Amino acid sequence: MPKSYPPVLESVNWADLFINGKFPNVMDVGCGKAGMLFDYAESHPEDNILGLEVRRSLAEWAMNLIKGENVPNAAVQWYSVVNGIDFIADDSMDKIFYLFPDPWTKKRYVKRRAFNDSTLEMYSKKLKIGGTLRLASDVPEVHEYHLELLKKRDDFDILLVKDDQTWELPPTNKEKFCRRENIDFFRIIATKTK
Ligand SMILES: C[S@@+](CC[C@H](N)C(=O)[O-])C[C@H]1O[C@@H](n2cnc3c(N)ncnc32)[C@H](O)[C@@H]1O
Repeated sequence: MPKSYPPVLESVNWADLFINGKFPNVMDVGCGKAGMLFDYAESHPEDNILGLEVRRSLAEWAMNLIKGENVPNAAVQWYSVVNGIDFIADDSMDKIFYLFPDPWTKKRYVKRRAFNDSTLEMYSKKLKIGGTLRLASDVPEVHEYHLELLKKRDDFDILLVKDDQTWELPPTNKEKFCRRENIDFFRIIATKTK
């Protein structure tokens, strides 16, 4: 856990975060160095993408770049999702990404993961019907765990994705690393049905 842990956020003035002043409809949880977030923002000018990143230096670095480059539709907030995301309106998200984010791959650390029954419930509440939760991991056990949690619920249609066309997203930094090193990774698109 980082030394300075981000405080709980109850509300956000979106005009302070996004240059275009609009609220987000896409969220990238654990965006890291935010490579995908920048590519996504550029290729989807109609969307507002919010990155949540628990490492302060990365969040501040990305936010400086967003301001410096005047990117209107992207923002990164220093935050841990396990603090809850009440500052996001219910039924407001078209897409939530959770891509290679969890360092707690061992089973005994499962409780520390930022993807658990309660964060999944939270993501479900924030997604619109028809909205999608996209998950990726290069750790087979973590992928199986993602599937297990999703399958316990009756509000998601689950699709295992191999091809990039269906996946649609620009690659993240970690995905590029996996491709370079020939490491297998697993992708899920879970569509909210009710
Ligand atoms: C392996 S990196 C992957 C980054 C990016 N998604 C990618 O695919 O390149 C995992 C990131 O998730 C962040 N992270 C871990 N737990 C988090 C939490 N509870 N809330 C927000 N970010 C978190 C870490 O700080 C790290 O930057």
